[in-house]
Amino acid sequence: MKLARTIAELNLILDPFRAKKANVGFVPTMGALHAGHISLIKLAKAENEMVVCSIFVNPTQFNDPKDLERYPRPIEDDKHMLEAAGCDVLFMPAVKEMYPDGDYSTLKDDFGTLDKVMEGISRPGHFAGMITIVNKLFMAVMPQNAYFGQKDFQQLSIVKNFIEKHTIPIRIIACPIVREADGLAMSSRNRLLNPDERKRAVIISQTLFKVKEMWSKTPVAEIKKFVEDVFTKEGYLKLIYFEIADTQTLQPIAGNAKQAVACIAVFDGKIRLIDNVLLTA
Ligand code: PAJ
Repeated sequence: MKLARTIAELNLILDPFRAKKANVGFVPTMGALHAGHISLIKLAKAENEMVVCSIFVNPTQFNDPKDLERYPRPIEDDKHMLEAAGCDVLFMPAVKEMYPDGDYSTLKDDFGTLDKVMEGISRPGHFAGMITIVNKLFMAVMPQNAYFGQKDFQQLSIVKNFIEKHTIPIRIIACPIVREADGLAMSSRNRLLNPDERKRAVIISQTLFKVKEMWSKTPVAEIKKFVEDVFTKEGYLKLIYFEIADTQTLQPIAGNAKQAVACIAVFDGKIRLIDNVLLTA
């Protein structure tokens, strides 16, 4: 695996492949890699001649400075995992490479309803920062295919919207959520949980799986009440939001639509976790 720390170094590596019209598959990450990230790398590897992974903890998408500070950065482990998965190039730029001259301005784009719900309300500025870095990374890597996890369902919707609206010639591939054996969605933040918090975290996915069972036969209001009760009774986990949303518009739905997604955000101690499950009639 080759390592590029600047866009110039990345171009030196990729130009010969671009000249041969080799397909480049791209997996943007913030590191602290786990099997969820690696599933994206493996899919990219199967579909492209060249796989680029970026590790960049993007300051502009953190609305909480403490969250940015404690974000895990186990670089050596990450490199080993990427090597083992067959990643060809690791792009690991410094902050000043992606935000020259300390200019942290973010893209002001209009995502309609997509960023006015859930994470968009709960984490002001998060999606502006996210799309700013994704756009910068896309411009640097210029991939044919880019791989995103459904774990971040709203992020995926916004990236797809951005690509379509600006007719950017990159195919966005959605990849299924990879879970721990007990059902907890894999996340870089899971490693920040203490053993008690880690045990409790399983309630998040268990609740979503129960919602999936209830979906076809229970009114939305009743499902919401059920979820709120679970967290009130549990007492330690703090429910930030639970929404049943249309998979296209992400607007909350009142009745039972054909395709919906149940999304949840929870504080487990100081650690913010998100998860979702697709609901089908
Ligand atoms: P990060 O949280 O590191 O996630 C990188 C990619 O891995 C995202 O597309 C995310 O949805 C996917 N992913 C994370 N956990 C997953 C899981 N359990 N199963 C499947 N896929 C999973 O998302 C970001 O970084 C950043 O916002 C980024 C897009 C890199 C921009 O900074």
